[in-house]
Amino acid sequence: MHPLLLAALVLCVTTPLHAQVLSDTPRLSGNTPPTEAVKAVPVPPMVTNDVRQMRNYPEQPPVIPHAIEGYQLTLNTNRCLSCHARQFTTGSGAPMISVTHFMDRDGQVLTDVTPRRYFCTACHVPQADAPPLVPNTFRDSLSSGGR
Ligand code: HEC
Ligand code: HEC
Repeated sequence: MHPLLLAALVLCVTTPLHAQVLSDTPRLSGNTPPTEAVKAVPVPPMVTNDVRQMRNYPEQPPVIPHAIEGYQLTLNTNRCLSCHARQFTTGSGAPMISVTHFMDRDGQVLTDVTPRRYFCTACHVPQADAPPLVPNTFRDSLSSGGR
């Protein structure tokens, strides 16, 4: 088949589905058509006030209250652990990674961070001073009287 013909066919077949998806899901990029060139909105400032935030539920990975820009987190280097590892917390004043971070998948407590918890930013994220992208009706179980 001629490539142009194929492209036209693909366009015809996918457009209605695409439109349906657009109407059902909140789009993080806003309401502008995906193919339109729009000016990028400025990156909002990060919250770096060093105030540890309350968790919204007990098992929540606490959010990061400090800057992490430029911190290397690779297979060979983990900048986070240079402060948060057990052996460095006296000097850094950082809270130690909790005991769950030493446990392998069988619950065995290792002497160092378990590989499952090595890439900190898979779970811990800094916060931006920005309005929520999509509506959120989450309520804390204590505040909604669900005790
Ligand atoms: C230079 C030392 C240092 C480095 C490097 C560092 N942190 Fe921290 N971190 C701290 C200190 C100190 C605190 C306590 C709050 C504060 O002073 O910002 C903290 C707080 C936190 C908290 C909040 C804990 C809680 O209970 O609320 C998280 C999560 C965290 N850091 C994750 C990270 C991650 C992930 C990295 C790497 C990307 C990292 N930190 C790198 C020093 C550090
Ligand atoms: C798989 C997700 C995950 C990864 C990866 C992870 N954490 Fe956590 N972290 C959590 C959760 C969940 C909690 C809260 C419950 C707990 O302690 O297990 C937590 C708690 C913490 C706390 C608070 C400890 C306390 O006692 O108040 C610190 C500090 C922290 N993590 C740092 C780190 C650092 C540094 C890394 C990377 C070396 C890391 N975490 C990797 C999920 C994760």
